[in-house]
Amino acid sequence: MTDLSADEVIDAWRDAGRSDERSLLIHPAGNDERAYRESGRAAALDVVRLLAEHGDREPSLVVDYGCGDGRVAHELARIEPAWRVVGVDASPEMVDAFDARGDAIGSTAIGMTWHTGDDRPPPVAGADVVYCYAVLIHHGWVDGAAIVARLADLVRWDGLLLIDAPLYESARERVNAHDVTTWTRPMLVDVAARAGCVVVAADVNPGEFTWADGPGPRHGRLHVLRRT
Ligand SMILES: C[S@@+](CC[C@H](N)C(=O)[O-])C[C@H]1O[C@@H](n2cnc3c(N)ncnc32)[C@H](O)[C@@H]1O
Repeated sequence: MTDLSADEVIDAWRDAGRSDERSLLIHPAGNDERAYRESGRAAALDVVRLLAEHGDREPSLVVDYGCGDGRVAHELARIEPAWRVVGVDASPEMVDAFDARGDAIGSTAIGMTWHTGDDRPPPVAGADVVYCYAVLIHHGWVDGAAIVARLADLVRWDGLLLIDAPLYESARERVNAHDVTTWTRPMLVDVAARAGCVVVAADVNPGEFTWADGPGPRHGRLHVLRRT
């Protein structure tokens, strides 16, 4: 079992955001701004491609859950200016960073502070797609399943939920802040079913995630869930 609660994960991210101008922990390309931006653009293009392949209509509202400083959301807003892109993050510091980055690059994406355990009602509803990059890896299985179930509530019927959870034949839960949680394929199917979704495509992102100092866990592999 993981020894980190959902609140502890959120606090860890808030503190990371405080101790660095932009936490290197969320920075898959180290402090290379260009590589960082390119990684966000590649991830945003994956969202566009998966929506074209699996979506039923041109989206109007797209939500980036656990948006961090907007690595992906700001690029998506630039690629698809007609889409309303909303970044949501548990950490107010991250949303501040999201807004600052958006202002710096002239992005139309907006950031909001909220999380799935929040007592407040969600800031968005009826999204065509909610995507969630590099969040579930930080949570244990029980919290991860609860996050997916609540995110599905933000998606309209037949809308899509794109989640990133590395799949392995034998999965394990993270035990500390430097570790990541992995899932098995049957777990993914079960978590989707309990969220009222079906898995329409699993492990579809061809890009391999790499940490700044070398190959990392297979994070960045997206799964496409449809709300039914
Ligand atoms: C590794 S960063 C990923 C940021 C962004 N998705 C990206 O790919 O660049 C994880 C982000 O998720 C946020 N986060 C972690 N757990 C969360 C939760 N349960 N609800 C909302 N945000 C969460 C953190 O505050 C942090 O900004």
